[in-house]
Amino acid sequence: MVLWLTPPERRDVQHRFFVGEKDIRRKGGKMDSATFNGRSSHFESSTRSLLAIEDLNVSLGGTQLLQNVSLSLKPGELVGLVGESGSGKTLTGLGIMGLLPNTATVTGTVRYDGSDLLTLDAAALRDLRGDHISMIFQEPRASLHPSRTVGRQMIDVLLAHETITRKQAQARAMELLDLVGLPNPRRTMNVYTHALSGGMCQRILIAMALLCNPRLLIADEPTTALDVTIQAQVIELLRRLAEEFDLAVLLITHNLGVVASLCSRIVTMYCGQIVNDDATDRLLTAPQHPYPAALLKASDVHLESPDDWTSIAGSPANPARPPAGCRFHPRCPYAELRCSENSPILEDAPNGGRSRCLRIDELTLDGVA
Ligand SMILES: Nc1ncnc2c1ncn2[C@@H]1O[C@H](COP(=O)(O)OP(=O)(O)OP(=O)(O)O)[C@@H](O)[C@H]1O
Ligand code: SF4
Ligand SMILES: [Mg+2]
Repeated sequence: MVLWLTPPERRDVQHRFFVGEKDIRRKGGKMDSATFNGRSSHFESSTRSLLAIEDLNVSLGGTQLLQNVSLSLKPGELVGLVGESGSGKTLTGLGIMGLLPNTATVTGTVRYDGSDLLTLDAAALRDLRGDHISMIFQEPRASLHPSRTVGRQMIDVLLAHETITRKQAQARAMELLDLVGLPNPRRTMNVYTHALSGGMCQRILIAMALLCNPRLLIADEPTTALDVTIQAQVIELLRRLAEEFDLAVLLITHNLGVVASLCSRIVTMYCGQIVNDDATDRLLTAPQHPYPAALLKASDVHLESPDDWTSIAGSPANPARPPAGCRFHPRCPYAELRCSENSPILEDAPNGGRSRCLRIDELTLDGVA
């Protein structure tokens, strides 16, 4: 397994991962625009956002499911996107990828490296997907082709996106399978996905997402089908790719423990809206919104015993029929009358980050750290 690495081994893996005709190293390797996959639109400054979503609204069948979603990621940044089931995390990921159903009405801007993805035609989007932006989908088995071998699926992706021979594509695919910890990559290349466990399918999806050395990875519940050991290895892999190759990762998950250990920033969604966007350290010590504060208390992040866990009262609100005012008010222990009458906007919180709460100036919320 290649993920727990001493420094000399790290160099070896770095070499093996990116072996081939192209040198795509970005940080230590001092990538320049001429050597990064031959792409002309090299990202110029690491202070500029790689991804900037502004006021993304998504409606399906006349029902608004995402409202004014705004978030950004810089190169190499690891950002968690959390929230209970149905809060809109996957729709946000699909919106970035341009993979929402054709019937969806989408407004707002989704800028990647300065270009608004919502205005690109299908061919330009296809070029970006996989090559620049990759997504690990929530349902690993459903995302893989049932009647093609793992190897064929991986090679097809590479041949579609890169100027590379079949033999080179095969070698690259096997390197990636090795990198995500699949034993015997050569054998795995020849099997169909029905013969693989959910965890193995998940790792194949991760390998496929990394095939073309993307700069932005949207990982939707990438570790849920994995046992704890493999989960830790995948997290370490994502951390390493972000550190060494400036890969930006939007990690979508229910698991606050995973995001807290990996991400520097955590964005929390509730009922189709972002309600909080804050640095992980601050969120753990002094949350700036009652909902992530409640999520933390309902999870095992830094709490000493399950006796300390408290569930959140009530059920998640349905974005198709959101409560009036603050959408969290029916479940919020701090709700006042005005919370059911006025809709808060996402704005700068007193101690940093952004929060969608009418009372945030007067609340002092406990963290778990
Ligand atoms: N194709 C669709 N048609 C209609 N409604 C949809 C569709 N996809 C998602 N929704 C609705 O949009 C809302 C957000 O769904 P989404 O899948 O983004 O949630 P999520 O946060 O990813 O949840 P989970 O944690 O369970 O994956 C939910 O109310 C869901 O029922
Ligand atoms: S606006 Fe009111 S109900 Fe909403 S999170 Fe803040 S205190 Fe709770
Ligand atoms: Mg989802």
